[in-house]
Amino acid sequence: MDRLYKKGEIVTLNIEDISSKGEGIGKYNGYTIFVEGVLPDEKIRAKITKVKSNYAIGSLDKIIEQSKNRRTPPCVFFEDCGGCQIQNLEYKEQLKIKRKIIVDALERIGNLKNIQDKVKSTLGMKEPYEYRNKAQYKVSQDATLGFYKKKSHEIIPINHCKIQSGQSESTMKYINEFIQKNNISIYNEETHQGIFRGVVERVSNFNNEVMLIFVVNVKKIKFSKELIEHIKKYLPNVVSIYININMNKTNVVLSKTNKLIYGKEKITDSIGTLKYEISPLSFFQVNPIQTKVLYDKVVEFAELTGVETVFDLYCGIGTISLYLAKNSGRVYGVEVVEEAIKDAQDNMKLNNVDNVEFTLGKSEEKIVELLKQGIKADIVIVDPPRKGCDEKLLDAIITMSPQKVIYISCNPATLARDLKVLNVGGYNIEEVQPVDMFAHTMHVETIVALYKKD
Ligand SMILES: C[S@@+](CC[C@H](N)C(=O)[O-])C[C@H]1O[C@@H](n2cnc3c(N)ncnc32)[C@H](O)[C@@H]1O
Repeated sequence: MDRLYKKGEIVTLNIEDISSKGEGIGKYNGYTIFVEGVLPDEKIRAKITKVKSNYAIGSLDKIIEQSKNRRTPPCVFFEDCGGCQIQNLEYKEQLKIKRKIIVDALERIGNLKNIQDKVKSTLGMKEPYEYRNKAQYKVSQDATLGFYKKKSHEIIPINHCKIQSGQSESTMKYINEFIQKNNISIYNEETHQGIFRGVVERVSNFNNEVMLIFVVNVKKIKFSKELIEHIKKYLPNVVSIYININMNKTNVVLSKTNKLIYGKEKITDSIGTLKYEISPLSFFQVNPIQTKVLYDKVVEFAELTGVETVFDLYCGIGTISLYLAKNSGRVYGVEVVEEAIKDAQDNMKLNNVDNVEFTLGKSEEKIVELLKQGIKADIVIVDPPRKGCDEKLLDAIITMSPQKVIYISCNPATLARDLKVLNVGGYNIEEVQPVDMFAHTMHVETIVALYKKD
């Protein structure tokens, strides 16, 4: 390392890589500088804004040589909005970058050698827009819906989002209209005063049903009747309206307290030939088109013959369990959210499936209980949240020793950490398939097939 930069200094950099947060990475004699808004293969000028012991942050001053993969972002809010990070990059390049992020994590964190050939090209979308079935709209103090600005809690008002479902534009327009017309006070994060905190929209891709969840900072709202009338008039495909009472001083969008004020308790969507009912608090993959691609990969990796015992750990509303049920002997699904496990049980009936057992609890605890009952899996599927699997769970899988483990992950870093444990514990990594569930963002989904070593 040659020398530390000084704050305010102007530097010229060749951008060599992109970080998992989407910042361009330039190097000066081994010293790393992160700059937002720039792409690999660009030559730029940046002003140093922060200096740490082994890296610095710069802000873009000028692009001297532009990457051939740079494009005009289709969304006019791209520069400000915190939702997408790489809309300014050609889509096919986004897919390559996502693969590289996974390879880097597996090599660096997972210490996995010769992994390059195992990691396939990212499976992308034909039309990578309007794919999201869930939106969490914030509301600004001037009563306009929007999303958080990049790296801040400031809300930027928007009227259109390129990656949200086609429903999104009307939802924002008519909810804006309602809160402005009715003078509803807006929640302030700092003072904890005000009523209206935001809206969560869930859309069923297949049935075109919409659920709206209004998040409020009071026990009872006085405007339910007017709200229902307004929504019925202007947003006719809304089939379910909830009030979520969230009086907590927290960034967590939804509290556990939901009150249905209109319509159905759940919306119904389909993946392949199966139908799934979804409650407000249950997890459902946000990109239904790519979910089918992902689940078909699970089927391919599982190579079921109709007799296998399968554990689907972190099963959500039972989507993967039910997807595999007809080709399995028996499936055990485990999930920690009560509403989701109830949905899973209802979804089993809805799809006339009778060889799946859903259990409420933590995967790391329930797997041990199943083992104690003498129930062992031939195939274990894990699909944990971003923090990855609990160590106890990985130990239990290694002890149980199933033929195959299929690991689905939305976080390459924790995936790499856990694969290292499974690899040392007796599993070969056969194939790593990135699937683009989150186009134009730096998020990446991966599915990995692991087979027991001979
Ligand atoms: C990424 S989602 C996957 C859900 C499902 N496999 C799907 O494809 O829709 C992770 C799920 O794990 C659940 N979860 C989180 N921690 C858990 C734990 N320790 N044990 C069981 N489930 C857990 C979450 O509630 C969520 O439903």
